[in-house]
Amino acid sequence: MRSANIHIFDVPDLAAVAAGDAFIATARLSGGRPVGLATGRTMTPVFEHFVRRDSKTNNLFASTIFSQLDEVLGQRSTNGSFANEIATNLFSQLRAKPAGFLMIDGQADEPATEAARHCHAIHKAGGLAMQMLGIGVNGHVGFNEPGSQKNSQCRVTDLAESTIRRNGYKVGMQGITLGISNILAAEQIILVATGSIKAPAIGAMINGPKTTNCPASLLRDHQDISLFLDKKAAGHIC
Ligand code: GLP
Repeated sequence: MRSANIHIFDVPDLAAVAAGDAFIATARLSGGRPVGLATGRTMTPVFEHFVRRDSKTNNLFASTIFSQLDEVLGQRSTNGSFANEIATNLFSQLRAKPAGFLMIDGQADEPATEAARHCHAIHKAGGLAMQMLGIGVNGHVGFNEPGSQKNSQCRVTDLAESTIRRNGYKVGMQGITLGISNILAAEQIILVATGSIKAPAIGAMINGPKTTNCPASLLRDHQDISLFLDKKAAGHIC
């Protein structure tokens, strides 16, 4: 059985920089296959690092095709969407625009069809060379909330109560997410977690049983998975 590569740093920014550098190294060798971005608070310093590297490196992402991990549904406009977060905090800050972006349309009339279309677009582009992930306080990855099966595909999901509370979403909110099987199909997985609030989820992912109660635990035997953590997020594994 393989085990995850775990890198632990003193502070969140160092974890973000190292994860960002690992992402860039793969993105530059992806040969036109898509590389998956996540969003959320944890990704903010990672995106900032991409922008810093882009300011010093010509055409950093000029041949990179990015793809989207998950998206919220039921928003009145695209302003609060994850796609907008990526466009505003990353793409609009880059000197050279990326070669492409496989995005999820959170405003689509038929979200289930949109989920299937996204999955197909990734497949048609050659499959994911890499997927970057954060982790939820309940062990979710993307919007694969507890209960998500290992063979789950890109689909519409109900968000867990803790996800709704932590992000200030409306009760009953749904999302579209790549499934666990789509994430496992990526050649490489990079997961970033910072802060003591993530320590129990990282502990369950690495040392707990492999169970749908902690969807991240279903990823831990992937052939190339690396975790970039700060000391606080690693609090339950060392
Ligand atoms: C969110 C998103 C994920 C994100 C994770 C961690 O709910 N669905 O894509 O990676 O949870 O978010 P944060 O970094 O804000 O804690």
